[in-house]
Amino acid sequence: MLHSIRARLLIATLAGAVLVVGASWIYAENVAADAATRSAMRDVLVFASVLAAIVAVVLAELIARRFVTPIAELRHASDALARGDFAVRVRSRRDDEIGGIGRAIDRMADQLAERLEAVRAEESRLRVMLDAMDEAVLVTDADGLVVLSNAAFVGLSGSAGLGRACIEAIRSAELHEAVSKALRGERSKAVFRLDVKIISAHVAPLPDGAGAIVVMRDVTEVRRLDEVRRDFVANASHELRTPLTAIRGFAETLRDGALDEPRIAKRFVSNIVENAIRLQRIVDDLLELSRSESPDARFELEPIDPLAIASKVLSSLEQKASDKGVQLGIEATHDAVPVSGDERALDQVLLNLVDNGIKYTPSGGRVVVRFRKDADTARVEVVDSGPGIAASHLSRIFERFYRVDQGRSREQGGTGLGLAIVKHLTQRMGGEVSVESRLGHGTTFSVRLARAELGRDASAHDDDSAALDA
Ligand SMILES: Nc1ncnc2c1ncn2[C@@H]1O[C@H](COP(=O)(O)OP(=O)(O)O)[C@@H](O)[C@H]1O
Ligand SMILES: [Mg+2]
Repeated sequence: MLHSIRARLLIATLAGAVLVVGASWIYAENVAADAATRSAMRDVLVFASVLAAIVAVVLAELIARRFVTPIAELRHASDALARGDFAVRVRSRRDDEIGGIGRAIDRMADQLAERLEAVRAEESRLRVMLDAMDEAVLVTDADGLVVLSNAAFVGLSGSAGLGRACIEAIRSAELHEAVSKALRGERSKAVFRLDVKIISAHVAPLPDGAGAIVVMRDVTEVRRLDEVRRDFVANASHELRTPLTAIRGFAETLRDGALDEPRIAKRFVSNIVENAIRLQRIVDDLLELSRSESPDARFELEPIDPLAIASKVLSSLEQKASDKGVQLGIEATHDAVPVSGDERALDQVLLNLVDNGIKYTPSGGRVVVRFRKDADTARVEVVDSGPGIAASHLSRIFERFYRVDQGRSREQGGTGLGLAIVKHLTQRMGGEVSVESRLGHGTTFSVRLARAELGRDASAHDDDSAALDA
């Protein structure tokens, strides 16, 4: 087009020249003069027309250079801006209107570049924030197609889902329903399953019907803990109710006349005492469990001597073991090195484990505490020759109130909380407890703790235990 301006300029100047020369020609033809004069005039006119043509071309080019070329540059710059190339500048030094337009375009390009930079910075800040969120975020357009998602969403669904319908990105009818509502301008919530996870989603419309935003949270663990808490309350209430009901039953029977029959009264009173002891045991264990689970109750870990603690526990249970006809023993004491722990906690742990061993091992059996050590850790093992635990129960025996044989545990005065307490106390000491067992082949519980101050203390203790062993 601009080339045509240049052409038009040329044509216009040429036409002007032709017009002037033509008019002069006609005038020369019609003027009253002799042939010689006319021929001279024609020569002059031919010369003039050639000159006029040259002047026209030169003039047209000059005008083109002065105006058309700078306009072409302006157009090139604005085209580049329109394409998004904000680096383009006219840099005109002219002080006329064209120069003014050039400078205006440069200012516009500066501002556009600046704003674009600000938008990019804002966008990348938003991206970082979105990706740092624990919640999975999904934004759809007005047609329900995913236009934005964050890293947590990719973690949840396996892909960013961009360009796909929301229902394809997350296959959930509940979420689909909520997004449809949001596209109609309504806020809503949805809870749905995604494989093994439970997801809670808040869905809201974007302003001006531009789409919907979905914020999703994995609530599987929260729900599970909720369930555990509910089960625990139900189990604890049930456990407490059993002895309470018995106490109340015996007491009412006594009140209603049994008191007058001394033999029966005595038996009922013993039953009441027995059940009160059971209640007391449950409450004690519940308190112990709650202490061992409390996040505030951090132990001050210090070097402790597992051999001394085990010896104390075994002496305290000696009577119970001999009553039952179970033999107690202590082995491999040369491996009993100081561990990092809490004396009272390890005492409780071993008391529970040895007590279980005695309770569940039939008469004639053996319960042994033995020690093991390696470079960083030391283990205290409680090994019994009892009936063992079936594999199907092994993974659950550390749960609160879980018992392999409810009746047997009750009969032995068990609360079902012992191993849960053992597990929490051990974890509090930074250690772990494990169990190995096979039906008919006894059971081994193993408490692993970090060795304390491997340098001086450990070797000092090695000497002690060697002396003890000897
Ligand atoms: N040494 C063991 N031998 C066989 N079974 C055991 C042994 N220790 C624990 N168990 C099983 O694990 C269950 C949970 O133990 P625990 O939490 O100490 O509760 P309880 O109060 O019943 O002893 C017991 O009821 C019992 O069935
Ligand atoms: Mg127990």
